[in-house]
Amino acid sequence: MPNSLVFKNKVGKINKLLVVGLGLIGGSVALAARRAGFANTYLGVDLAYDERQGAISLGVVDQVSESLAELAVDADLIVLAVPVLAIQPVLQALKPHLKASAIITDVGSCKAVVLDAAVQVFGQLPPRFVLGHPIAGAEKSGVTAARVDLFEHRKVILTPDPANDSQALDVVRQLWMACGAEVLEMDVEQHDQVLARTSHLPHLLAFSLVDTLARRDERLDIFRYAAGGFRDFTRVAASDPIMWRDVFLANRDATLGALDEFLEGVQRLKTAIESRDAEALVSIFTRAKSARDYFTALLNETGYQTMQNTKINFITQPGAGAVAGRIRVPGDKSISHRSIMLGALAEGTTQVKGFLEGEDALATLQTFRDLGVLIEGPHNGEVTIHGVGINGLKQPQGPLYLGNSGTSMRLLAGILAAQPFDTELTGDASLSKRPMGRVADPLRLMGAEIETTEGGRPPLKIKGGKKLKGITYDLPMASAQVKSCLLLAGLWADGETRVTEPAPTRDHTERMLQGFGYPVVKQGATAAVQGGGKLLAADIDIPSDISSATFFMVAAAISPGSDLTLEHVGINPTRDGVINILRLMGADLELSNQRDVGGEPVADIRVRYAPLKGIDIPEDQVPLAIDEFPALFIAASCAEGTTRLSGAEELRVKESDRIQVMADGLLDLGVDCTVLEDGIIIEGKGGQAEVFSSAEIVCHHDHRIAMSFAVAGLRASGSITIKDCATVNTSFPGFAELARSVGFKLDVQTSS
Ligand code: S3P
Repeated sequence: MPNSLVFKNKVGKINKLLVVGLGLIGGSVALAARRAGFANTYLGVDLAYDERQGAISLGVVDQVSESLAELAVDADLIVLAVPVLAIQPVLQALKPHLKASAIITDVGSCKAVVLDAAVQVFGQLPPRFVLGHPIAGAEKSGVTAARVDLFEHRKVILTPDPANDSQALDVVRQLWMACGAEVLEMDVEQHDQVLARTSHLPHLLAFSLVDTLARRDERLDIFRYAAGGFRDFTRVAASDPIMWRDVFLANRDATLGALDEFLEGVQRLKTAIESRDAEALVSIFTRAKSARDYFTALLNETGYQTMQNTKINFITQPGAGAVAGRIRVPGDKSISHRSIMLGALAEGTTQVKGFLEGEDALATLQTFRDLGVLIEGPHNGEVTIHGVGINGLKQPQGPLYLGNSGTSMRLLAGILAAQPFDTELTGDASLSKRPMGRVADPLRLMGAEIETTEGGRPPLKIKGGKKLKGITYDLPMASAQVKSCLLLAGLWADGETRVTEPAPTRDHTERMLQGFGYPVVKQGATAAVQGGGKLLAADIDIPSDISSATFFMVAAAISPGSDLTLEHVGINPTRDGVINILRLMGADLELSNQRDVGGEPVADIRVRYAPLKGIDIPEDQVPLAIDEFPALFIAASCAEGTTRLSGAEELRVKESDRIQVMADGLLDLGVDCTVLEDGIIIEGKGGQAEVFSSAEIVCHHDHRIAMSFAVAGLRASGSITIKDCATVNTSFPGFAELARSVGFKLDVQTSS
């Protein structure tokens, strides 16, 4: 139930609340406000005798009248719950009886017409008239259908005017919050355009479809055979005809615009069916399905991108024993991104297996759909990409949102800098703080035009139509993202693009380009591509992500009695730093079944517990284990002796400052460590059974920090609460379930 104290503290109690129009909406407002104790007395005006009687007998209001004049004089807050075209006459009738202090609001689903009515009657919008629209309703009408919970967890849009009195606005906001709704604000024009598409058009289509069928079958027999699809599609055609007549007359222009767009879409489908264009049909349906799935995720609040307002905490319980079993962690994130990018740019159809259905890789997938590529799936890790060829991308409708994914943004920058159209790349709060100058600067040297915000941060505004030229570039930092970005831009550049790295970094881009038939010349630390070639579709089998496997390798390595096998893990030599480092620390790792899968080496990794010792981590291993350090710090804490890491300043610009954030958490858990500019010194507590104490950890929305501290829970004396773990979905959906299946004691707590 909504908390009534919220508004009492802020605006004091309203004395008399008057509802004009005692139907479903008006009755529900009164019931919900009454339950929350929002006002002292509830009044209702309605012309219909039955509604007035119903409102009294159901306890909706305390007093009713058919005369506005009678009840308006005392009212402090007036809610106009009448059809939108009735607002003007009602305002006219109200005007002579209003108290100067009275606040008015309405519930109309079109706002321009209400604003217009107010201006007609009062000469201008009265400062204490705040326009509003609850996005809630039901097919039933009348006060008997009123429900106290109609607005709970629903949205109410207010369209405040600069002339509005701030106290009046606050009271109206508080009214809706007291009814349990979430209050949003937008301007009148935007409201009417949005609602024309999301509410008015679907109602129009439902009315039309039912009417069309009914007319063809006068006896309505056809409805006997109507299946669930018809029922679901036409549910809203049972709504109040008068109200909807008014909506379409009132929101005429915006609805006509929406209807034109819809008719164009239907015409495209008609043409595709007429010409038996199967690909066009799949393309339209797939785009629609993915949009619908996104909408479902929004409704169900699943997935990081959709639930950035939802808090997920991990809570570890002490007393977890050994970690054991045989598991397969999800597909490699880096390779998943690249499979979509190269598959989209290739000629022909690329089948992908083992695709990581995590939010980061899905952001890349969605982006290429937005760039006009038909992509089917993912279904159980399988994706089919209908490549459009190197010059086949189309201009997207709006900015491309990449969520938390730095890899998407940096690699895409290279591809998009070479396109004939403008693009804008945006991301979530964490991505918006990450440095993009490292890709924008060398791309500019190639002739690209890219705007960043201060300090080289996103969003990136990329100007289209720039002819790129190949450059020879020495990477200032060991970064596979920057290397990949430039090699990808090089596909369109005049001449050769040569990139030299200061230390080896993951080479998935080079391997996959070659797999797609695009020559990459490698000479020592330099990789080079010649512009102007083409990519040919190739099937891809993505191995499990060694970065995700790391959490389980460390878990088994630090928990006495453990014996865990991780299947089908990618062990590319540019990614195997974690294996080398754990072995140097004394971990018992056994690789078997080593094979080559689509140009990437893969193995099963068996990890058995063995006591660990602290080491100086060789600097040449740092880029090869760059994403694995948060988990390795947990291993170091459980080792005997000191572990020293240096040469790892890149960790400071990952999804969080991974040196500082890990150090803060370790200190809170009772592990001694010293932060260095480019690394950390950790004093291991290997001799002790329980290495970590109990604490609340803030992981700064960094997925790898969250999972690392979940691993720490295996050697903790108390419970560890890890806050803000929703981003785990970006790289490792199903982490907590998989962890529990091998012996972790890990609870997931979700709240809004
Ligand atoms: C990645 C490269 C690395 C890594 C990131 C994925 C890639 O970043 O940290 O998670 O897929 O190319 P840098 O290249 O910036 O080191």
